[in-house]
Amino acid sequence: MKKIDSNKEWKKWGEIDPLFGVASWKNREKNGSNPWTDRDFYQLGEKDWRDFLRHWEKYGVNKESCLEIGCGAGRITMQLASYFNSVHAIDVSDKMIEYAKNNISTSSVIFFISNGFDIPLHDQSVYSVFSTHVFQHFDSLQVAESYFAEISRVMKPSGTLMIHLPIYKWPSQHRIFKMIYAARNTISNVRAKYQRLLMQYGHRKPIMRQLMYPLEYFYEYMPKYNFKDIELSVFVTKSNNVPHPFLFARRNN
Ligand SMILES: C[S@@+](CC[C@H](N)C(=O)[O-])C[C@H]1O[C@@H](n2cnc3c(N)ncnc32)[C@H](O)[C@@H]1O
Repeated sequence: MKKIDSNKEWKKWGEIDPLFGVASWKNREKNGSNPWTDRDFYQLGEKDWRDFLRHWEKYGVNKESCLEIGCGAGRITMQLASYFNSVHAIDVSDKMIEYAKNNISTSSVIFFISNGFDIPLHDQSVYSVFSTHVFQHFDSLQVAESYFAEISRVMKPSGTLMIHLPIYKWPSQHRIFKMIYAARNTISNVRAKYQRLLMQYGHRKPIMRQLMYPLEYFYEYMPKYNFKDIELSVFVTKSNNVPHPFLFARRNN
């Protein structure tokens, strides 16, 4: 993989409105009627983390070290910092990371600006990997695949991952559904290209793409990347009463 087209829009969100770029709730833009305050934003992270952690602990999580992919303005990173002994947090947006750094003072977190597909860590250097509201914005499954290969490389044996991503299930295996999905992706790619062109000339707000993952995908691919005990779990976060699908997996020994 050479470059990620979506990095540009995420850099832009970091510049114009990092908190809304992370939590795009109605009226909570910088100029909206009820803009995010730092207090509300990080409290939202605390509340969501409580829901996430309950499920991760049930599956099994090692508190020694954690990598967070797509940390944004540090909404969840702040919580990871008080749970894990050490945290590596990566994001493609320098301004998001700057915002997070200004609000998280603990020395247990190390931030990295990343290229959107590599993980700047040594082989087998972390036990746990977490990501939320990030994999849903990738341009294609290839970006996720590149990350799964990288996660497998940097994770210690028996470490676990918890990754939020939208999942769908085909109504049947009939090829018509695959054709509909492929057509939908083609239209979405053309639209994104057009919107990015407008963005380049300053005509519109940065986009946020939405990618869905076929349920079967994880059971087919994760074992190839050296993962076992694959589980999908959907639960409601209390902050907004919305069901959140998560992937859990354990690195082989
Ligand atoms: C909606 S925000 C979520 C931030 C954070 N995970 C949270 O829930 O508070 C998405 C974040 O993912 C980052 N991001 C997008 N594509 C990425 C990629 N390929 N690799 C790493 N980070 C990425 C964006 O810059 C942005 O900060």
